[in-house]
Amino acid sequence: MRPLYVQIKDYIRLNIQSGVFAPDSCIPSERHLARQFGVSRLTASKAVKELIQEGLLYTSVGKGTFVNSRTIDQELEALTSFTEEMQRRGQRASSRVLYAAMENATAEVAKALNILPGAEIVVLSRVRLADDQPIALETSSVIAALCPGILQRFDFSRDSLYQTLRKAYNIHIAYAEQTIEARQASQHEAESLDLDKPAPILHITRVTYSDRPFEYVRSAYRGDRYKFRALLRKIE
Ligand code: GLP
Repeated sequence: MRPLYVQIKDYIRLNIQSGVFAPDSCIPSERHLARQFGVSRLTASKAVKELIQEGLLYTSVGKGTFVNSRTIDQELEALTSFTEEMQRRGQRASSRVLYAAMENATAEVAKALNILPGAEIVVLSRVRLADDQPIALETSSVIAALCPGILQRFDFSRDSLYQTLRKAYNIHIAYAEQTIEARQASQHEAESLDLDKPAPILHITRVTYSDRPFEYVRSAYRGDRYKFRALLRKIE
């Protein structure tokens, strides 16, 4: 279990990366953070102080603590949609929808999304392409109650899932947790991604949060066409 002040730091950092705490906006007060995390004011204060030292935040006497706008430009790259990421790289994103339907959540998905097993989810499986080249096979499960009618109203061979969730359902992404592991492509993944077997893929499992977890994703990225980049900070 990570120390509580580190968890508060992570929470603030992720909200900055995702733009929930906008550049030069005031972050919640230490008193508010202490109440939200059920910790002492001293613990919340330690988290904020360290982020000030790291240059992510700055204080203005008598006014509060603010997000340092210079740092965000570097950090923002962290959480994007496939469409946004391809645009950033100057490539054209498109998708081939392999499957789009309502299902009942399995125990694994229900646990990740904090819903009851059997609750309705929207399952969307897409091959994601950059300049018409297949890059990834992504299967997203989204809580159906949060986005009624999404499959009837939108065409995900064209539409961005995140943009749709934001614009049509007011779901704003705050942060995501993901694990990445290397393995060989399965038969289905190899076929979907035009790979000759045996070929390596990066397998990613991700839970995406607004004020609650709303999306569970399993993706296979082609090992030869995708690179992850991360900004790492030394932990004191
Ligand atoms: C990335 C994420 C997926 C997410 C997708 C949405 O690829 N890894 O979890 O579902 O973006 O992309 P878009 O909004 O382009 O549909």
